[in-house]
Amino acid sequence: MPHEVHLVVGARPNQMKAAPLLKLLRLSEDFNPILVDTGQHYDHEMAGVFFEQFGMGIPDISLDVGSGTHGKQTAQILEHYETVLLERNPSAVIVIGDVNSTVACSLAATKLQIPTIHLEAGLRSNDRTMPEELNRIVTDHLCDLLWTPSPDGDENLLAEGIPRSKITRVGNIMIDTLVQMEGLFSKRDMKEELEIEGKHIVVTFHRPSNVDSQETLEKILHQITELATTHSIAWPIHPRTKNKITEFGLEHLIQNPRIHVLQPLGYIEFMSLVASSKGVITDSGGIQEETTFLGIPCLTVRPNTERPITITNGTNQLISPDKIQENMMKFQSGQNERPTIEFWDGHTANRCIESLKSLLL
Ligand code: UD1
Repeated sequence: MPHEVHLVVGARPNQMKAAPLLKLLRLSEDFNPILVDTGQHYDHEMAGVFFEQFGMGIPDISLDVGSGTHGKQTAQILEHYETVLLERNPSAVIVIGDVNSTVACSLAATKLQIPTIHLEAGLRSNDRTMPEELNRIVTDHLCDLLWTPSPDGDENLLAEGIPRSKITRVGNIMIDTLVQMEGLFSKRDMKEELEIEGKHIVVTFHRPSNVDSQETLEKILHQITELATTHSIAWPIHPRTKNKITEFGLEHLIQNPRIHVLQPLGYIEFMSLVASSKGVITDSGGIQEETTFLGIPCLTVRPNTERPITITNGTNQLISPDKIQENMMKFQSGQNERPTIEFWDGHTANRCIESLKSLLL
């Protein structure tokens, strides 16, 4: 009998990391993969479109928890997923990344003594004001096997006293997705589809530290207006940011023909815009890695990053919210050469499968 293995996704950044692993699990005779969707993200643009574009199909189990405060959302996922685990008793659970679904499902599974694996383990921003940082720390200390993307991940875990025997470096799973999808997104011309003229910059913001404070959000919007005098701006807007702009009455600052405010985009549409851009301004985690892989200049509006390799080996630079304008020269040179980074090779999912076989077979 193949081993039932749960692959848990909850929020948008989870789907692109789950897809390549799910594909290989489905091909293996040793495993019966079950895709569990907590429903932390539920809009079609935030969830469904990724299941479609990555060919993941409909999730086998949906917990439908939706939005809420951190405590409520985490508690609901914990409660709902525990019920599923008690019914099905899988051989292993794989959780991904650093969202509330990650910590909730790892707690539910480890309490029931089910072997639990964290994919993208060991990342640390060392900033405990980020909800994701607390999720990372708790998840890593709960899980039985930690699949890390890079050497800094291993070092962070060892420094926290986690035994080396629990750590396996598998590489960067997002790059598997990027490599597999590049043929599709490089053929798509979103710039033309959206009638974006001239050179363009892609903007994304969703971190509470940038968008929940009116003062900071206003600062960011004023600088984006300035940028729009020399570049077109493509801004697929996160629901949190959209809500905050409305709440603070700042809509007039984005009503500008050069600022294209878009609905959240699918992977292919978004990556098409990034790959054809002069640069990206973001506070996302994953986009720092995608721009590094593609050699696209990236300004990350955060005081820290849990992905330092994107600065040491890549195109990424950290800046504060009031320094966007003065760092624009970063976008003059355009695209850089693609760096070579160990295990950013499109074969991370294969290494995960080998590791899973060692654990279960
Ligand atoms: C979550 C993750 C964050 C990740 C981000 C990507 C945590 C703690 N945060 O943050 O790490 O980078 O996803 O998007 O897990 N909303 C919708 N439709 C949806 C989902 C959310 O309208 O499908 C709105 C709701 O008003 C919700 C708000 O967006 O309250 C924020 O969503 P939430 O899941 O709480 O956090 P994110 O900011 O998306």
